[in-house]
Amino acid sequence: MLELAGVGKVYSSINGEKIEAVDNLSLVIVENELVCLVGRSGCGKTTTLRLIAGLETPTRGRILLSGKKVEGPSAERCVVFQRYTLFPWRSVLANVAFGLEMQGVSRAEREKTALDYLALVGLEDQARAYPVELSGGMQQRVAVARALATDPQVLLMDEPFGALDAQTRAVLQQELMRIWRVDRKTIVFVTHDIQEAVLLADRVVVMQGPPGHIREIIDCDLPRPRDRNSAAFMDMSDRIHLLLEGAE
Ligand SMILES: Nc1ncnc2c1ncn2[C@@H]1O[C@H](COP(=O)(O)OP(=O)(O)OP(=O)(O)O)[C@@H](O)[C@H]1O
Ligand SMILES: [Mg+2]
Repeated sequence: MLELAGVGKVYSSINGEKIEAVDNLSLVIVENELVCLVGRSGCGKTTTLRLIAGLETPTRGRILLSGKKVEGPSAERCVVFQRYTLFPWRSVLANVAFGLEMQGVSRAEREKTALDYLALVGLEDQARAYPVELSGGMQQRVAVARALATDPQVLLMDEPFGALDAQTRAVLQQELMRIWRVDRKTIVFVTHDIQEAVLLADRVVVMQGPPGHIREIIDCDLPRPRDRNSAAFMDMSDRIHLLLEGAE
């Protein structure tokens, strides 16, 4: 269980100004749940993710994972960013094996595990390639494989498909759903895209701000696989859309 209790974050800008990025965020995410955070630019989504990742420290409140306070980055909470996060000097295989290497796993074992995860994202044939030789969609697949390879408890995804064209994006959304079925994780997924949220989430957290806070949490209980053209899907998307418009 991942628990945010009264979490607030105030940044100090370079010229000494205080910026209240999120305020009083309280949210409980259960194991293996997929929660999407949606909201306008600047409402504190990335900040929330970075706080859970331990890349930022809350100014107020606390974050607990399995009852343990989050006090810094850890392999149990892994982040996938929007783009360009692979190590360009490492092969695809060595990128995916990176976390295992840090954990001191032997070369043979980490390469075997990395290959398994590359197969999971459909890129086993690209193992020896370098990131620059891959398309954006393939690079994001490698980033997902790299994040999964160390078997984190929580996967944090910040608009991971945001830089991709619509078609590639749809393919990766389907892939994420398939991977999530076989390799269950708690996922916190940030997106601007309401349809993406309704396609993926168990619950959609609609944020408003700044300072970022929760406007509403929508239970997204549509049967999977979800059909974007179904009336229920469109109703739910409309509802979130209206909430976001009201949040202006
Ligand atoms: N390192 C920082 N220092 C100062 N202010 C920051 C910092 N990071 C974010 N902020 C501010 O905090 C607020 C929330 O930013 P955040 O990046 O969390 O929003 P977001 O919802 O992810 O936006 P977007 O959808 O554009 O990615 C904004 O006002 C932003 O300017
Ligand atoms: Mg952001």
